[in-house]
Amino acid sequence: MTNLTFTPNTPLVAPSLLSADFANLQHALATVQGAGADWIHLDVMDGHFVPNLTFGPPVIAALRPHTTLPLDVHLMVTNPDEHLAEYRKAGADILTVHAEACTHLHRTLCRIRELGAKAGVSLNPATPLSAIEHVLDQLDLILIMSVNPGFGGQSFIPQSLEKLKQAKALVGNRPIYVEVDGGITPTNAADVRAAGGQVLVAGNAVFKAADMALAIMGLRG
Ligand code: DX5
Ligand code: ZN
Repeated sequence: MTNLTFTPNTPLVAPSLLSADFANLQHALATVQGAGADWIHLDVMDGHFVPNLTFGPPVIAALRPHTTLPLDVHLMVTNPDEHLAEYRKAGADILTVHAEACTHLHRTLCRIRELGAKAGVSLNPATPLSAIEHVLDQLDLILIMSVNPGFGGQSFIPQSLEKLKQAKALVGNRPIYVEVDGGITPTNAADVRAAGGQVLVAGNAVFKAADMALAIMGLRG
């Protein structure tokens, strides 16, 4: 079983399978777990909310038996509510929706928790933190996008550091993970952690590294 007990201030690394070889995801999972990953980040894209398509519940269900790590599912989709139960059934431990895609965000977050998953909200770079100010008690994770979602391998948007500091202040002592996604490298990881990013998502920085274990250790600091 996966362990998702909240541990404040412990840096965690969540490699994104988006940068792995899609023809060999089982191997990617084994390699990255062996290299010391904390969570597995799964990027679901629907071709509407973002201009790219990846995978959905059947692929997540196929991956589930091949890792004991928590599956951190990032839903970049227009109507997340319609499929939440399917993602949970497929084995998602954390379900993160985009605030921009949820008309009734409070209801969506309550539903995720009812399904037995941790509830996350992601904010695009242009979306203010005020979007989640009134749902903090329904939240287990805030995902600050440090690139515009849709593709791996983009450059970190520097303003994200200030937003992270504000997110950290907003969260206070609540048991909420602050996660950061997009353009994280060995060079900026220390700044990201110092600004309040506890969970670092990394695609290219892990999967394109010569030594994955070293890369993960470096990001964790
Ligand atoms: C972008 C995805 C990210 C992406 C990160 O839309 O949400 O998870 O895979 O990839 P890197 O770390 O390469 O920017
Ligand atoms: Zn992501």
